[in-house]
Order: sequence, then C-alpha cells, then structure tokens
Amino acid sequence: MNDMNDQVALISGGASGIGLATAKKLIARGASVWIGDIQDAQGETVAADIGAHYLHLDVTQESDWISAVDRIKDQAGKLTQVVNNAGIASLGNLETVTTEVFTKTLQVNLVGVFLGCKVAAPLMTQSGGGSIVNVSSIFGMVSDQYVIAYSASKGGVRAMTKAIALDLNARATGIRVNSIHPGFADTPLVGDALAEFDAGEAEAFALRTVGKTPMGVADPEQIARAIVFLLSEDSNYMTGSELVVDGGYTAV
Ligand code: NAI
Repeated sequence: MNDMNDQVALISGGASGIGLATAKKLIARGASVWIGDIQDAQGETVAADIGAHYLHLDVTQESDWISAVDRIKDQAGKLTQVVNNAGIASLGNLETVTTEVFTKTLQVNLVGVFLGCKVAAPLMTQSGGGSIVNVSSIFGMVSDQYVIAYSASKGGVRAMTKAIALDLNARATGIRVNSIHPGFADTPLVGDALAEFDAGEAEAFALRTVGKTPMGVADPEQIARAIVFLLSEDSNYMTGSELVVDGGYTAV
C-alpha cells in the first residue's frame, strides 16, 4: 500500500524499538522518513538498512530541533508527520529517585515532546497540516511506586497533548495531535531500567507490572501499528485523544 507517498515524517528516538518499528511501517506505506536520535552510529546503520534518512537530534535541545526541521525543509520541502517517541525510563521510589534523575526524565520525556511540537508545527502548517503522535505510556494513566519520575513525564505528555491539539486546531493549522499509551513492549528501554534494581527488587517490580499484562509483552511492531493509524488519514477525526495499546493492562 503506497498511500503515504506524499508524506514526510520525522521520528525522534527512531534508532531503536518502537520508533524504528514505526519508521519501517511508514516506509512500507511510501512515506519519506527521517529518524532523529542521539545514538548516531546505530541510527545511521538502521536508517541505511530500511531506507530512511538519519539526523542527530537530542530532543532536549531546541537548537537540534531547529536544525532538524531546517534540514528536512531544505531536502524534502515539507513535513507532514512527527512522532515524538524518544524517551528514557528510570525507576525509583520517593526515597531513591534523585532530583537529578527526576529532572532529566522530565527534560527528555516531556520538554522533548514540547519542543518537537513547537518547532515542527510551523513547517507542518506550511505543508498543509498533518499529524503529530506523542508517545506517552500506560504510566501516564496508572502508576507504580517506582515510576515517580516516568509517570510525571508521561502524565504531562498526556495532558499537554490535549492543550497543543486544541491550540493547533483553533489556529486552523490542519495539524492533529494525539497521544498513544503503550503497555510493555520488548525493547531495550524496560531491561535498561530494570538493570538499575537489584535482582529481588527487579523480580518483584516485573511481577507486579509487566507480569500482569493479560496479553503478555508486546512486539514493538504492535505498538507501531497504532502509531501509524494515528498518523494516517484513517484517524482524520481524532485530535487531542489518547489511544491505549496495552494488551489489556489498564483493564485489570
Ligand atoms: P528504546 O530504548 O528502544 O528507544 C528509545 C530511543 O530514544 C533510543 O533510540 C534512544 O537513543 C532515544 N533517545 C533517548 N534519549 C534521547 C534524546 N535525548 N534525544 C533523542 N533520542 C533519545 O525504547 P522504546 O521502548 O522504543 O521507547 C520509545 C518510547 O515508547 C519512549 O517514549 C518510551 O517511554 C515509550 N514507551 C515504551 C514502552 C515499553 O515498554 N517499551 C511502554 C510505554 C511507553
């Protein structure tokens, strides 16, 4: 299906996991895809493998976003889809989470999404509009005692997405903005976060959270399907909404 031939997409954090799975699906639909990440070597390699473009993008840096969008404007002439997907996970309860980790998590997961929307919107508007998907989490809706920083960031993305969607609609930009709330997917993110725990804590956390998912852990491709739906015309009456893709996690 080549129904996205005229689409130009930018995916932050696209060198790995859910972002990479989304890039592959968009390319299969005919879109031109730009991956932005801080893992430059890996990003260059996967982009070459799948036929995407790669650019260095630290989502916490407004200047990086400006350079990325300028480059896409120069080379592609337009931008129609943005997936604000880059994210980090940290685990810690109120006793153990440090102010430094809390702040860093908000910088990447929340400020990074804000900057992506802010800097991309003018070129998307000039391009006739499009769709932005902000990757939140089930932990933007429910939580656990060890995800204080992560839930703060993802809950922020959930609510901010609605405000930005309303603003871009009120200003007739033609841009829709929605959040997606994945459950546990098999990517480096969860394992890396669990590695911060000792074995006993990691097992208890995993049983209490990942282990209670009715449909089990997702393949990143299963999350990417829902992101592509929100990016496509199939969702053209959706804005400011939240799409839960969690294998039944929040239904329990
Ligand atoms: P991942 O670790 O495979 O991919 C995240 C990517 O973001 C990596 O390539 C990393 O280099 C990049 N990144 C990190 N900091 C960055 C920065 N400052 N600037 C640019 N890129 C940066 O993880 P995954 O699972 O694919 O995560 C993607 C998104 O999905 C994240 O926002 C995550 O919070 C969210 N999510 C993941 C879930 C899971 O179970 N894997 C569940 C719910 C949400």
